[in-house]
Amino acid sequence: MTNSLVTVAYIAASALFILSLAGLSNQETARKGNVYGILGMVIALGATALSAEVTSYGTLAAVIIPGAILGAVVASRVAMTSMPELVAILHSFVGLAAVLVGIANYLQPESSLTGSEATIHDIEIYLGVFIGAVTFTGSIVAFAKLRALIGSKPLLLPARHLLNIALLVGSVVLGIQFMGASPTTGLQPLLIMTALASLLGIHLVAAIGGADMPVVISMLNSYSGWAAAAAGFMLGNDLLIITGALVGSSGAILSYIMCKAMNRGFVSVILGGFGAAPSAQAAAAGPVGESTATNVEETVELLQDAKTVIIAPGYGMAVAQAQHAVAQITKILRDRGTTVRFGIHPVAGRLPGHMNVLLAEASVPYDIVLEMDEINEDFAQTDLVLVIGANDTVNPSALEDPASPIAGMPVLEVWHASNVVVMKRSMASGYAGVDNPLFYKDNTQMLFGDARQNVDAILGQLAALNTKSNPALTSVR
Ligand code: TAP
Repeated sequence: MTNSLVTVAYIAASALFILSLAGLSNQETARKGNVYGILGMVIALGATALSAEVTSYGTLAAVIIPGAILGAVVASRVAMTSMPELVAILHSFVGLAAVLVGIANYLQPESSLTGSEATIHDIEIYLGVFIGAVTFTGSIVAFAKLRALIGSKPLLLPARHLLNIALLVGSVVLGIQFMGASPTTGLQPLLIMTALASLLGIHLVAAIGGADMPVVISMLNSYSGWAAAAAGFMLGNDLLIITGALVGSSGAILSYIMCKAMNRGFVSVILGGFGAAPSAQAAAAGPVGESTATNVEETVELLQDAKTVIIAPGYGMAVAQAQHAVAQITKILRDRGTTVRFGIHPVAGRLPGHMNVLLAEASVPYDIVLEMDEINEDFAQTDLVLVIGANDTVNPSALEDPASPIAGMPVLEVWHASNVVVMKRSMASGYAGVDNPLFYKDNTQMLFGDARQNVDAILGQLAALNTKSNPALTSVR
């Protein structure tokens, strides 16, 4: 393939990647977005493989084919709730690739580069290896925390900020040595910096608590993008630079959106420490009252009587895989004239868009799935809210208790509705480890048990009641 054809293919792939990101920003166009992304990647791989620079197809096939098979098998088996783990381990590969490409590039210098061009090339190598090493080890620690291979509590070493600064300063000093070294002596500072950056990656992520882990994943996603962009500069590959920059900036924007949705400062997330222990006040306060338990029959009655229903799903709905039965309940209620909508908190579940993906998979119509900001005003005019496996995202203490660890986080204000039924298995706290006063409110009733079992039981009773009046509903049962 000629160079100009490769350039045309790279431009087409870049355009497809941009279209892919645009598509993925909305659930109605997300599938199309994925297809654009796949097409872009096929063109990128094809053009690179056919370019004049690639001569050894045996080696290429030996790495790409097993990699593609492994990736397809792992991705097709992963549960939605384990997706952050998969993403974390994939980021570690990008980081490791950037380190290896950087070191290999240094060992095999481009002889044509001299003067300032050679200096810029060395900076690219150094930065690429640094970001790659931080991404590599940071992602492995994130993976281990999400997999519960290590504890999710933040590791708070004494003088931890000082340690980070020392590692950074050490890397800069080594960078100065590296830039002044000859091609034969530069390897030593490069490798020592790789070790320091690896330590920095481990320490940075180890200091971050479980509740902030999804933000960390998105941040590591951003780092992996910048590491890829740096590798693109090293290799003089424009497509890698563009793709890396797209991943780097979209990851950074996503991290910012997630921090905003949790009312957490971006810098405070990166510096870690959140989730080490409940605040003294929160621990002292303990449970603030008594909760009222309900059962499936009473919940069905409430659903039959309600004219307006809002469903607030959370992580528990995902774990229980209750979305299909929830979709069927929604259909029955809508068929009998009830207004049913879903209120989606931006960080409900364990990854961005988690609830939207599950509801789309269960064919819930997009137009009744509303973002928190679109629906929060409407709870006061709602007869019944069903909270299914959500906890932190419906916690009033975020707004009412300035001492709460989640104070200031915007939440779904479900307690303004006439009735609230909370489905969960126990009185246990959610991901942030904070007690939830919603459970003790007069208009709240707790429907204890696995969300799937309870939702299935509600569906069964609702279907039985409504087929009597509408035989067309028999198919739902
Ligand atoms: P959580 O606050 O984590 O609460 C989920 C609840 O589901 C738990 O209290 C649990 O109570 C219940 N549950 C678990 N398994 C269940 C099952 N099989 N059946 C019924 N209930 C079950 O969930 P949320 O409201 O979705 O909030 C998400 C949390 O993750 C927030 O703290 C958020 O800040 C954090 N987070 C999310 C993201 C993204 S991007 N989504 C990013 C960063 C942080 P029981 O054990 O009593 O059943």
